[in-house]
Amino acid sequence: ALERALRPKLLDEYIGQTKAREQLEIFIGAARKRGEALDHVLLFGPPGLGKTTLSHIVAAELGVNLRQTSGPVLEKPKDLAAILTNLERNDVLFIDEIHRLSPVVEEILYPALEDYQIDIMIGEGPAARSIKLDLQPFTLVGATTRAGMLTNPLRDRFGIVARLEFYTAEELTRIVTRSAKLLNAPIDADGALEIARRSRGTPRIANRLLRRVRDYAEVKADGRIVKAIADLALTMLDVDPKGFDVMDRKLLEAVVHRFDGGPVGLDNVAAAIGEDAGTIEDVIEPYLIQQGYLQRTPRGRIATVAAYRHLGVTPPRGAGSGA
Ligand code: ADE
Repeated sequence: ALERALRPKLLDEYIGQTKAREQLEIFIGAARKRGEALDHVLLFGPPGLGKTTLSHIVAAELGVNLRQTSGPVLEKPKDLAAILTNLERNDVLFIDEIHRLSPVVEEILYPALEDYQIDIMIGEGPAARSIKLDLQPFTLVGATTRAGMLTNPLRDRFGIVARLEFYTAEELTRIVTRSAKLLNAPIDADGALEIARRSRGTPRIANRLLRRVRDYAEVKADGRIVKAIADLALTMLDVDPKGFDVMDRKLLEAVVHRFDGGPVGLDNVAAAIGEDAGTIEDVIEPYLIQQGYLQRTPRGRIATVAAYRHLGVTPPRGAGSGA
C-alpha cells in the first residue's frame, strides 16, 4: 500500500524509460482513437524498474479495467479461462512473471491472444469434447525479468515489446524528489542525488532507501534529508558509495578472490556465495554488468578492472576493462 502511494498513475507523471513511454503513448493513442484493444505488450527488464506501474498506467490511459495475476498463480487452464471469460471489452490483463506459466496454461493463451477465443473441454472420458468460446477483445500485458526465458510462440504473439532500462541518476533524483514531496519529507537537491546515485538504477530501491534515510534523519538529526545524513544512513545500511549492497560485493569478492577474477560459471558463483543462480542472473548481475564491473562471456563471469579497484585490489595484467 505504501509503495503504491508513490506510483505514478498516468504517463505524464512517469519519469524515465523515455523510449518505452514514447512508444506506448503513440500506440495507446491510436488504439483509443479506433476504439480497439491495444496490441499485446511485453515488458521485460530487471525487477523494480516499473513493469507493474506501467501496466496500471496502460489500463488507466486506455480507460479500461486492469486484471492482475501472475504466471505461478495460474496453475490450471481453468484458472486462466475464468479470468479471460470475465474480461470486459478492451480490458488489460496483466500477467507478471509470465515466463513461469505452465505449458498447459500457455497453450490456452495462444488462441486467446490471436483470435480472442479459447478452447475449453466439456465432459470427461469418451464423451469429452472441446468447444470454442468467444472472448471480448483484450490486451495482455506480460512482464518478465528476461525475455529469453519465454517460449518463441509466446514471444511472437506480442505486438509491442518494451525493454526497461536502468534509470540514470538524474531520473532517479527526480523520482526521489517527487516521492519525498508525496511523503512530506524535507529534502534538498544533494540529498536526493545521493540517494539516487546509490539506488542501483532502480526506483523501487530509491523509494525504499528514501524511507530509511528519512527515518534516520528524523531520529538522528532535524529531519531534513541532506547529503551528509543520506551518506550516514546509507553507510549504516551497507549501501556502499557506488550503491552496491552486500550481495553485490559478495558476488564481486567471490569472482575476484575465489576464482581469480574468472571466467567462472554461474553455478559455481552461486554455490560460493550461497545465493540462488536465478536471483544472481535476474537481480544481482544485470546492474553490475551495466555499470561495467562484471562481464558475461561464453566461458563465464569475469571481474573487470573496475571491480578490482572497487574492492581495493590491484588488478592483474590482462584484466578486462569492462568496456
Ligand atoms: N515511482 C516509481 N517509479 C517511478 C517512475 N518511473 N516515475 C515516477 N515515479 C516513480
